[in-house]
Amino acid sequence: MPTQRLNPPAAKPADPQRWDQRYREGGDGWELGQPAPPLATFLRHDPRAPAPGGPVLVPGCGRGHEAALLAELGFSVLGLDFSGEALNEARRLHGPDRPGLRWLQADLFDRGGLEAAGLGPGSLGGVLEHTCFCAIDPQQRRAYAATVAHLLQPGGWLLGLFWCHARPGGPPWGSDPGELSALWRQAGLVEEIWESATGSVAQRTGEWLGLWRQPGRPTHNES
Ligand SMILES: C[S@@+](CC[C@H](N)C(=O)[O-])C[C@H]1O[C@@H](n2cnc3c(N)ncnc32)[C@H](O)[C@@H]1O
Repeated sequence: MPTQRLNPPAAKPADPQRWDQRYREGGDGWELGQPAPPLATFLRHDPRAPAPGGPVLVPGCGRGHEAALLAELGFSVLGLDFSGEALNEARRLHGPDRPGLRWLQADLFDRGGLEAAGLGPGSLGGVLEHTCFCAIDPQQRRAYAATVAHLLQPGGWLLGLFWCHARPGGPPWGSDPGELSALWRQAGLVEEIWESATGSVAQRTGEWLGLWRQPGRPTHNES
């Protein structure tokens, strides 16, 4: 039942050490070695894609391929992960902090830690989601959505590639397109795009691509 997928029994609590271990020991079956093709194609070629503006957060950025792509396209990007090993890899592959691309070790659900790093309410122009949402305990999905809504400025966007599969267990935890649409609507975001993704790698069939907006007009010039 779709409702069970959004609210299944609690999984293990978030544990950065377990993710560190996965990176160290090669237990990283999610790794594509490149930005996810549907996101790269959308950002590079789709006229509906958001333009560079306010800061963009990539939560659970892992090795940082999407963060680096956004920086290459002119966005000001913060790649966030609570795994130090992930960020070591991101720096090795895409370079250290520099204007336009920074790496932050923090827990997405630690509001105080985010605030201390400058991620306060309405501080972001955008959020890009790729395989962080399916990695967290599904019990945390509403908190994830609330965090995104909390951080986005008026007019800010969420671009996400969501793996919609119905296999039991995880990570990667499955999702249902209808439930995801409802989740973002309940978080107060307005849906602009929600469609079956094109160009997914073979092992990720069932991906959906979405773009949502925080209601309201930007309160300051984004550029
Ligand atoms: C499946 S990996 C995906 C990495 C990257 N997005 C990619 O597609 O290659 C999930 C990532 O989310 C990170 N993560 C999980 N929970 C997190 C949390 N609460 N705060 C920050 N990062 C988290 C993990 O450390 C891991 O790097």
